[in-house]
Amino acid sequence: METKLNHVVLAAENDIKGAQSIHELMNIKAKYIGKKSEIMDLMKTLGSLSPEERPKVGKTINIAKQNIENLLENRIVKLKEMEYQKTLQDSKVDLSMPGYAIGYGSLHPLTIVWREIEDIFISMGFDIAEGYDIEDEFHNFDALNTPKDHPSRNLADTFYIKDDVLLRTQTSTVQIRTMENYKPPIKIISPGRCYRNDRPDASHSPAFHQVEALVVDENITFQDLRDTLNTFVKKMFGNHMKSRFRPHFFPFTEPSAEIDISCVNCGGKGCAICKNSGWLEMGGAGLVDPNVLGKLGIDTEKYSGFAFGLGIDRITILKYNIPGLRLLYENDIRFLKQFTMNN
Ligand code: DAH
Repeated sequence: METKLNHVVLAAENDIKGAQSIHELMNIKAKYIGKKSEIMDLMKTLGSLSPEERPKVGKTINIAKQNIENLLENRIVKLKEMEYQKTLQDSKVDLSMPGYAIGYGSLHPLTIVWREIEDIFISMGFDIAEGYDIEDEFHNFDALNTPKDHPSRNLADTFYIKDDVLLRTQTSTVQIRTMENYKPPIKIISPGRCYRNDRPDASHSPAFHQVEALVVDENITFQDLRDTLNTFVKKMFGNHMKSRFRPHFFPFTEPSAEIDISCVNCGGKGCAICKNSGWLEMGGAGLVDPNVLGKLGIDTEKYSGFAFGLGIDRITILKYNIPGLRLLYENDIRFLKQFTMNN
């Protein structure tokens, strides 16, 4: 029987060597070790052998079968390699040719500043909160103490999607959403996109970015607001920078103020950019109106808060000395490329 098996293995070896495709190999496999193969027939005779002979013969058959399997396996590897070489030749790829240099992309300056703002406030103990770009009138106006006849609710100012649904005009919406969901102490910022029905020019864009801040805790005073903003301005623009507050009105803060920073261009001496005032406007701020807190179920005897909203676009053009908002939205590659080094 052993001679017979040797013949089978030799014949299989011959066939396998000659096979030119995986498909051919599969047929050869069926022929030599498949269900109807000679080897399998021999296996079936094992039952009629004596118990002493059975393991010996079984082992011999198995070795023959294993040999054929190994030969098949090696040929598959060989065929695959041949196929690969042929594909390479056919596609005429010259692997020794130097590749094309792939240029690095760059982060958009707004993204760079957005992330920097987040880092600064996180280092001051703030959490990042998120709101929605599509909002309802309650969160964008009513809950922020804005009367029904306030001009900012006008179609000429606000993009309405339908009656009560609009594109938020300010990130102050996140103040409300945060106070609805969390109890004081609250200490969050929320950077995000806002929308207003403005014609694009050097200082306006229908879509722009704000970062909102809200702190609610016991004994929060105007001084906390000032310290927080001063620290932020110095970390963002450098230690020499100053900020100041000008009295103003916002429906949801009392008292309210507008925030200026010393002119990044002239350092406060006065130039064309700051219209000789030495100051540039950066956003609004104030102590949260107890009316707003109260309606959200916050105990105004115990808690007070401050809030501010800054323009991220504004901070970006001041930080990088960019002449106007348009460049931020035109996606001119020559402009964007200049920020590669900052990533
Ligand atoms: N939401 C205001 C705006 O878009 C900016 C603002 C003012 C935000 C005062 C505040 C704030 O949080 O306290 O003009």
